[in-house]
Amino acid sequence: MLLIPGSQGLLAVKLSRLTGFKLGYAQLEKLPNGEKYIRVSGEITGDVVIVNSLAHNPDEMIMESLFLAETLKEYGAKRVFAVFPYLPYSRERAIRGEAFPIKAIAKIFSCLDRMYVVDFHLEDMIPEFPFEVVNLTAMEELAKYAENFDVKDPVVIAPDEEALRWASIVAEKLGIDCYYMKKIRVDAENVIIESAPHEAQGKDIIIVDDMIATGSTVVQAIKVLKRIGCGKIYVLCTHPVLAADALRRIFENGAEEVIGTDTVPSPISYVSVAPIIAKALVES
Ligand code: R5P
Repeated sequence: MLLIPGSQGLLAVKLSRLTGFKLGYAQLEKLPNGEKYIRVSGEITGDVVIVNSLAHNPDEMIMESLFLAETLKEYGAKRVFAVFPYLPYSRERAIRGEAFPIKAIAKIFSCLDRMYVVDFHLEDMIPEFPFEVVNLTAMEELAKYAENFDVKDPVVIAPDEEALRWASIVAEKLGIDCYYMKKIRVDAENVIIESAPHEAQGKDIIIVDDMIATGSTVVQAIKVLKRIGCGKIYVLCTHPVLAADALRRIFENGAEEVIGTDTVPSPISYVSVAPIIAKALVES
């Protein structure tokens, strides 16, 4: 298996070390008129894996990965797999005439033979993809990191009902209780969380969510938890997208630590998803 990193594909180096799969190279450039220039070099045979984080400049990265996948097929790859640890457009559902981009993304990448994603938010959309999607979870790795938090008798809090599916994995691994908060999303940057579970009162807290985008969810959750007298608050997420000043706002509101993974390279990407992806690649 050959691993080819995209422009945001640093994870490929870790994957190569863990799997022993060779690293390949593709020339990924932009022409003066803004179009892309992509060239693969060396002999392309067997299965090839594109590794790319699609978090920053998602539309650019989607097109780059698509052109790369088609080129690899053209020049001899038997099967092309993609490791997209963070798949963009994975929160939006369509209502009242809105676009539902993940459906288009599933079609756009139809030349792929398999896609590896991590903690994919719209899990129920996987059957819409015309190829195999392997949805891995980083929650056990995050839970291992949380074992070293300086907490006393903590509980895990999911800041909304959807996050319960990730938070409960962490809680189970740590052997502690898990509760969720009721959240109403107003728009992309604003959410309302009015109350916290009474079981959290006076406890140290580990908030668990799949991603931090604007940080509004975590900030509101912290505010409400502090209001009912919770102790230390730690935050875990798989995808630290961290738009604008998300991290600053979370710390200013009293988080002790905020920990994410390297599905999105960031200043808080302390936990690597490379071991779980490497294992999945080797087993495939
Ligand atoms: C959404 O439902 C997700 O699980 C996260 O709670 C959300 O994406 C976080 O976004 P933000 O940081 O912008 O509140």
